[in-house]
Amino acid sequence: MKNKALFTSDKQDWETPQELFDQLNSKYHFDLDAAASHGNAKLPKYVTAEDDALSQEWGEYSSIFCNPPYETKSQNAFIKKAYDTHQEFGNTIVLLIPARTGTMRWHKYIFGKAEINFLEGRLHFETNGVRHKINAPFDSAVVVYGGSDHA
Ligand SMILES: C[S@@+](CC[C@H](N)C(=O)[O-])C[C@H]1O[C@@H](n2cnc3c(N)ncnc32)[C@H](O)[C@@H]1O
Repeated sequence: MKNKALFTSDKQDWETPQELFDQLNSKYHFDLDAAASHGNAKLPKYVTAEDDALSQEWGEYSSIFCNPPYETKSQNAFIKKAYDTHQEFGNTIVLLIPARTGTMRWHKYIFGKAEINFLEGRLHFETNGVRHKINAPFDSAVVVYGGSDHA
């Protein structure tokens, strides 16, 4: 039972492949990982579920990376938070999210409002820093608020 709980939790985490993160970080020079745990944070400065990034101000950070939790409620909330924060503070916010292009969140907060980079192929995410042998069962996109396509 304990193992099952661990497995389920790990599956929801879908850690960013290090190579992809390094590419993005070399371009955007992030100063915050907005969705992390003490074990999977990609940057020295990060926010965990316990501290709840959704209830915090993101305006003081100039460049934020966020691979939010994968369940629908969290995706909705983090994408809205990223959009609202960029609107208010003009900072750069980069999201790694599933390319669920038919959802309300994509239509309301992404299309026409952010730069969208659909990734070719399906990512090999990581768990505890170890690359999954099998790729993800969904397509992913890197969505950039404050990217070159949009102010
Ligand atoms: C998809 S994982 C990303 C992990 C890592 N930052 C990365 O990119 O590889 C999402 C992380 O967000 C954390 N999380 C869940 N709810 C959160 C919240 N409200 N605020 C901050 N982090 C949260 C989860 O515990 C999980 O570690």
